[in-house]
Amino acid sequence: MAIQKVMVIGAGQMGSGIAQVCAQAGYEVILNDIKQEFLDRGLNGITKNLGRDVEKGRKTEEEKSLILSRITQSLETKDAFDVDIVIEAATENMDIKQSIFREIDAIAPMHAILATNTSSLPITEIAAVTERPEQVIGMHFMNPVPVMKLVEIIRGLATTDEVYKAVEEMTTSLGKTPVEVNDFPGFISNRILLPMINEAIYALYEGVATKEAIDDVMKLGMNHPMGPLTLADFIGLDTCLYIMEILHEGLGDSKYRPCPLLRKYVAAGWLGRKSGRGFYVYD
Ligand code: CAA
Repeated sequence: MAIQKVMVIGAGQMGSGIAQVCAQAGYEVILNDIKQEFLDRGLNGITKNLGRDVEKGRKTEEEKSLILSRITQSLETKDAFDVDIVIEAATENMDIKQSIFREIDAIAPMHAILATNTSSLPITEIAAVTERPEQVIGMHFMNPVPVMKLVEIIRGLATTDEVYKAVEEMTTSLGKTPVEVNDFPGFISNRILLPMINEAIYALYEGVATKEAIDDVMKLGMNHPMGPLTLADFIGLDTCLYIMEILHEGLGDSKYRPCPLLRKYVAAGWLGRKSGRGFYVYD
């Protein structure tokens, strides 16, 4: 199953990062979103990242232009009529994802793989709305996509070995390391990362230490690149809460209950970096 042409649905931070790494690896990429302004923002981000690579001498101007020329813009899912794989990176909401998968299933060629970059929604439930659940798979990239080496590949209940292999090979061709995971709430990354972040928020809530102290312990004591509260702000506190709710509901164990302080911050609109304020304040 040779993959050459990719459609990425969603030009946000994750989708544009995925489009960038696919184009860098030589794939022909269609970047799709529902509004031109979202495509513009995504492509600006890609151009800025590649510009930094040129400044740092990691790429030439010619390479930058070649990579950009491999990305075409699309406002219509019907442009997926001749792609080999669709990687969906739209909003984390089951209704939205299922409606995209229903639509794309009717358009994409029979052989095409339908992948989702969901960070925690069940692959099997997304696959169930298509006529090709055996060709549906999770491809969970980490943020920032151009930097992080991991892709969690999640098999839905019906995903075939052939489809898994094709996605594994593609992941390696992107310069990333694939890890095989079965379809359980939060997969591996968020099943472990989010309870750690939630526990850090509990430590702050209970007055065990200041936010700076909590972050320093994990940064300097455990060599994490960012402390858990800084990382929570980076991921987005609404996303953190959403994933904790999925773990809590899906695994049914009270150890996954979201910290009340996390709920309070989200209710206040303190969503982290993207809203200018979370555990820390951003300019
Ligand atoms: N896009 C592209 N490149 C980026 C980038 C971005 N958004 N952000 C940083 N970089 C690059 C920089 O250009 C820089 O490269 P060079 O120095 O070679 O030019 C390099 O990354 C390091 O950046 P900085 O020096 O600015 O800062 P840093 O050393 O603190 O690194 C970081 C930034 C890579 C984000 C690092 O802090 C880190 O690894 N943090 C943890 C990130 C993490 O845990 N991500 C997973 C989040 S969870 C997730 O994604 C899953 C989910 O479902 C919630």
